[in-house]
Amino acid sequence: MSVTRVGQLAAALVSAMPGWRILAGPTPFTWAPDRHLRVSVTDGRELRRIVLRHSWSDQAHELERRLYREVLPHVGIRVPDLIACLAVDPSEPQWMVLGDMGSRHLRADKAADREAFLGLLGTLHAKTHDMLTEGRLRVEGLPRFDGQAQLAHWHDLIQNALQTPRFEVEPWMPRLAQAVFRELQRLPLAINHGDTDFSNAVLGMGGVCLVDWERAQIGPPAPDLGRVMAAVEHDGELQAYRQAFVGAGTTHLSPQGMQLWADIALAHHCIRWVCYYLEAHGRGKGPGADWRASYYVPCLAGLRKVRDRRPEWTSSS
Ligand SMILES: Nc1ncnc2c1ncn2[C@@H]1O[C@H](COP(=O)(O)OP(=O)(O)OP(=O)(O)O)[C@@H](O)[C@H]1O
Ligand SMILES: [Mg+2]
Repeated sequence: MSVTRVGQLAAALVSAMPGWRILAGPTPFTWAPDRHLRVSVTDGRELRRIVLRHSWSDQAHELERRLYREVLPHVGIRVPDLIACLAVDPSEPQWMVLGDMGSRHLRADKAADREAFLGLLGTLHAKTHDMLTEGRLRVEGLPRFDGQAQLAHWHDLIQNALQTPRFEVEPWMPRLAQAVFRELQRLPLAINHGDTDFSNAVLGMGGVCLVDWERAQIGPPAPDLGRVMAAVEHDGELQAYRQAFVGAGTTHLSPQGMQLWADIALAHHCIRWVCYYLEAHGRGKGPGADWRASYYVPCLAGLRKVRDRRPEWTSSS
């Protein structure tokens, strides 16, 4: 985007905040310069930092808008203030003006950060599970996890990959996928954030804040948990999730139950990335050797770890 275009865009977006004017910026984010801008604004008394964010699609914009306005303020976790939603012009329909929650995010390589992230997710899942069961959450329009469709697709991908030795897929893996999806059906439903990358847990003055809710859905909590689980180094870290879950909601979760959820979550996470790789290779656009070493191979190891802990999930009888 040109400097003029960025300036015009920021001016149009700040016009949704009557009485406020731009003091500094806009500064495009280094990593998503076309979709995110930072601006400092003032009303003459107060200084405020805001983030201007462009959504991927109308549906994603609508989902995030609804979550920020109607759902997340009641959940007890920090999320950005949604100051305004704006269609700037027909070519830029979906912009949001959000409070700037800070410039750092949690790190996967720090145990305290992993525990903080797990605690946030425990709170999110327990509170939204209670809201769903008590009928306090309107669910129309919220996407739902479709386990059956996902299982059928992933099962076929893994089964076919058995024919190609370089994929290193093993004959028990399709059975593990079936068992994991069976177990997923037994988990309570909650709102999943849907993209629990550490970059989406922003660390600001007031604590950790979860941003980027465009992929949220209603489903078992395993996909959110699995993404963070992949970074967990000791099973003890999971207590942060369990304590938050039990403290925030009304559903019991024993230490053994937590371990079961963790195994389901890790297996789901690993199957997902294994299948991403297999599918991309099927389309002739497979990620390179670095990706294979950093994600694919550890995910195969994650599946072996779950198989060793839960041999009943892969027994052929
Ligand atoms: N309101 C906010 N306050 C502070 N930082 C933010 C805010 N919104 C986004 N960020 C930061 O910008 C990053 C990118 O924003 P976001 O996650 O919303 O978009 P994204 O869809 O992941 O972008 P892309 O897919 O292009 O990487 C976030 O991971 C977070 O670190
Ligand atoms: Mg993000």
